[in-house]
Amino acid sequence: MTQDELKQAVAEAALAYIRPHLENDTVLGIGTGSTANRFIDCLADIKGMIGATVASSEASAERLKGHGIPVLDLNAVDRVDFYIDGADESNRALQLIKGGGGALTREKIVAAVADKFICIADESKLVNTLGAFPLPVEVIPMARGHVARELVKLGGDPVYREGFVTDNGNIILDIYNYPIPQALATEEKINGITGVVTNGLFALRPADVLLLGTEEGVRTLYPE
Ligand code: A5P
Repeated sequence: MTQDELKQAVAEAALAYIRPHLENDTVLGIGTGSTANRFIDCLADIKGMIGATVASSEASAERLKGHGIPVLDLNAVDRVDFYIDGADESNRALQLIKGGGGALTREKIVAAVADKFICIADESKLVNTLGAFPLPVEVIPMARGHVARELVKLGGDPVYREGFVTDNGNIILDIYNYPIPQALATEEKINGITGVVTNGLFALRPADVLLLGTEEGVRTLYPE
């Protein structure tokens, strides 16, 4: 199977996972990226079975609206029943690295509100130790130099993502050569640097379930 076929399989599996729980006031949080896009396209078939969605990026909001799926501002809802999103890496505790597409802050906010976070990914994303994928950090533009120097002190190798501006008007530093054996502590430490909006570690709020696309079918993993 190609990576695209694995992404399609996990998108369909996510729909099957939530389908028995859907009611006409269900609010779905929708992630960002190529795997989340597959889920959005699947959702179009059952859009009459949900109340509304909230999106973690302008790009996902546009895709949802293109299918005629209602999208609400997060402040207009008092809960999010499920959040469905991809990841750049997951360990077996379902702690994630996200933000390859630069949407990490809004993704983290929607995930924080959600009752249940369903991560969908192909098997290439499952790792023993996080950090082979460069960790994205969203930074207030004027703090770029300061934050980069602080990240070097932590042992990382921050690289400015050239020409990229987040939906929130900020910049991204991607930290290379930075293995992360203690994701919780690292998430808190980097978030403590003045000028950091947030970083792409999802350890304080990990996924609740990971639907992992493999050659043998979709595996359902819970945190170990
Ligand atoms: C977006 O900012 C990211 O967090 C994505 O969820 C992540 O990069 C996974 O993207 P793909 O599904 O395209 O691999």
